[in-house]
Amino acid sequence: MSTRVLPATTDGIAAAADLLGQGQLVAFPTETVYGLGADAENDRAVAAVFAAKGRPSFNPLIVHVTDIAAAAAFACFDERADLLAQSFWPGPLTLVLPRRTGCRLSLLVSAGLDTVAVRVPNHPVAQALLRAAARPVAGPSANLSGTVSPTSPQHVQESLAGRIAAVVAGGRCPVGIESTVLDLSGPQAAILRPGSVLPEDIAALIGPLAASGGDDPAHPKSPGQMASHYAPSVPLRLEALSAQAGEAFVTFGPDGFSRGGRIRLNLSPNGDLEEAAANLFAYLRLADRTDGVTGIAVMPIPATGLGVAINDRLARAAAPR
Ligand code: TXA
Ligand code: MG
Repeated sequence: MSTRVLPATTDGIAAAADLLGQGQLVAFPTETVYGLGADAENDRAVAAVFAAKGRPSFNPLIVHVTDIAAAAAFACFDERADLLAQSFWPGPLTLVLPRRTGCRLSLLVSAGLDTVAVRVPNHPVAQALLRAAARPVAGPSANLSGTVSPTSPQHVQESLAGRIAAVVAGGRCPVGIESTVLDLSGPQAAILRPGSVLPEDIAALIGPLAASGGDDPAHPKSPGQMASHYAPSVPLRLEALSAQAGEAFVTFGPDGFSRGGRIRLNLSPNGDLEEAAANLFAYLRLADRTDGVTGIAVMPIPATGLGVAINDRLARAAAPR
C-alpha cells in the first residue's frame, strides 16, 4: 500500500472521510499530535489500527467526536463530565467514562474495559474531518507503538508510510504533547496522563483529584502508560548539565546555548513551557536521526504547569526499554 498525502482542503478532507467510511486508516492533525484515524464502529478498521501501530491489544484507543452530543451517544456523562466537557471541549482533554451498554462502538476500542476514552479535538482540520466522516473516529497517536509521537505529516510518514491509506497534511501540531487523560469512571477523578489541561484547572471545577497526579508506571490503570514509551532509538539521559561526546543536547532557556553536544536544540530559548512542548517530539526525532548521534542529553525542565507533562514524556522516553 502506498500512503496518499491529502491536502487539508475541502476536497482532501472529503477524500479522507470517504476512506474512513470504507474502513481504511487515515492519519490527521489535531492540536496535540497527529492521530491515526479509523471508523470506531468498524471492528476490522479498529483491528487494523492495532496492527499498523504494533500496539498491544490491551491498550485502548481514544474516540474522537465533533461535540458533547456525539460523545453522549456511547459514553455516560455525569455532572463532572458535563462541566469539564463544557469548559474544555473542543480541546486537549480526554475523559474516560463508562461505556453505554449496547452502544455501536467497536469493543476493541475499549480493549475489554467497560469504559471508553473520548475527546473533541480543537483543530479545524480534525473538526472538518469528523464532520465529513459523520462517525466517531478512533485515534491513537499516528506512530509505531512505544516511539516518539508525531507532530507533523513527515513524522507520520517516517513511522507509518506504506501501512496506512493516507495522511491529511495539516502542518505542525500547535500544542505538541498529547491530551490530558482524566479518569471519571469512578467516584474520585484521577489524571492518568498529564497534558496541557492542568490538574488545578480541572479541580477548580469538580473538586479534588486522586492524589497520585499521574499513573503508577508499574501498575498502570491507563494501559498505555507503560514505563517505556515515546522512546527514540538512542538512549536518553535526563537532568544533564552538559553533553558528552556523541550526544545531542536538548536544552531549555537562555543558558541552553553554551554547553557542548554534537548538536544543540533549544526547546525554548525564552524558557516558555508551551513553546518547549510544541518542539519536544520534533526535536527528539531530529536529534535521533542526526548522523553520529549516539545518545540524547536533556537539560532539566521545570516541573511546573505544562512542565509536568513534558517531564512525564521525558521520563518514559528515558526509561529502561
Ligand atoms: O492527544 C491525544 O490524546 C492524541 C490525539 C491523536 O488525540 N491521542 C493519543 O492516543 O495520544 P494514544 O492512543 O496514543 O493514547 C491514549 C491513551 C493511552 O495511554 C491509553 O491507554 C489511554 O489513553 N486510554 C484510552 N482508553 C482508555 C480507557 N478506556 N481507560 C483508560 N485509559 C485509556
Ligand atoms: Mg500514543
